[in-house]
Amino acid sequence: MKKTLILLALATTTTVAFAGDHAYGPFPAAYVEECASCHVAYPPQLLTAPGWQAMMNSLDKHYGVDASLEAKRRAAIADFLQRNASRRDKHAAPAQPPRMTQTAWFRKEHGPLPAKATKALPAAAQCESCHTAAERGDYNESGLRLPAGYRKKEG
Ligand code: HEC
Ligand code: HEC
Repeated sequence: MKKTLILLALATTTTVAFAGDHAYGPFPAAYVEECASCHVAYPPQLLTAPGWQAMMNSLDKHYGVDASLEAKRRAAIADFLQRNASRRDKHAAPAQPPRMTQTAWFRKEHGPLPAKATKALPAAAQCESCHTAAERGDYNESGLRLPAGYRKKEG
């Protein structure tokens, strides 16, 4: 009985973001377990379906590391990502391998951020360096702490 309730709860937590809000979590346990050990669990809503698909089909060559998963687990996570993926062009990755940090949306919102961490700035993909609640999928402004080296983009 208890188990059923937990499963139901997971099934209903996949599309919690609503207009004007930048909280994308909580994420399903499998996604956190498999995709948040090397970096935060990135919000599925910030990349389009083809990007997630290309990524999930090449986990053995994941940005220089092997992030392979057992087939069933991989399929479940791929399904979660597909169902919550963005449908907007501004969230499409312009190159392979797909990165949400290279989408038109990301670059407009953030201005220039380095791909690799520097003394002054974290790498663009280290969301948690600036968004202190990124681990929970929360990117609201209240959790924003900017490094001294960050200069807000013009306009
Ligand atoms: C063994 C460590 C590891 C695991 C496990 C892992 N990743 Fe990654 N991931 C990386 C590394 C390393 C990068 C490149 C980071 C960089 O260049 O700053 C990366 C980059 C990414 C990016 C691109 C970030 C950007 O720049 O936009 C996404 C999206 C991503 N991973 C999703 C996933 C998903 C989904 C899973 C689970 C299926 C996963 N990762 C599991 C290590 C891992
Ligand atoms: C160097 C610091 C920094 C890093 C790293 C960073 N961000 Fe941001 N992020 C910002 C700033 C600054 C804004 C703009 C806030 C504003 O103008 O309202 C922003 C805005 C956002 C917003 C819109 C929030 C809003 O209130 O409009 C989202 C969503 C977001 N970032 C997600 C991410 C994700 C996902 C990553 C990692 C892949 C990331 N950010 C990495 C600093 C950062």
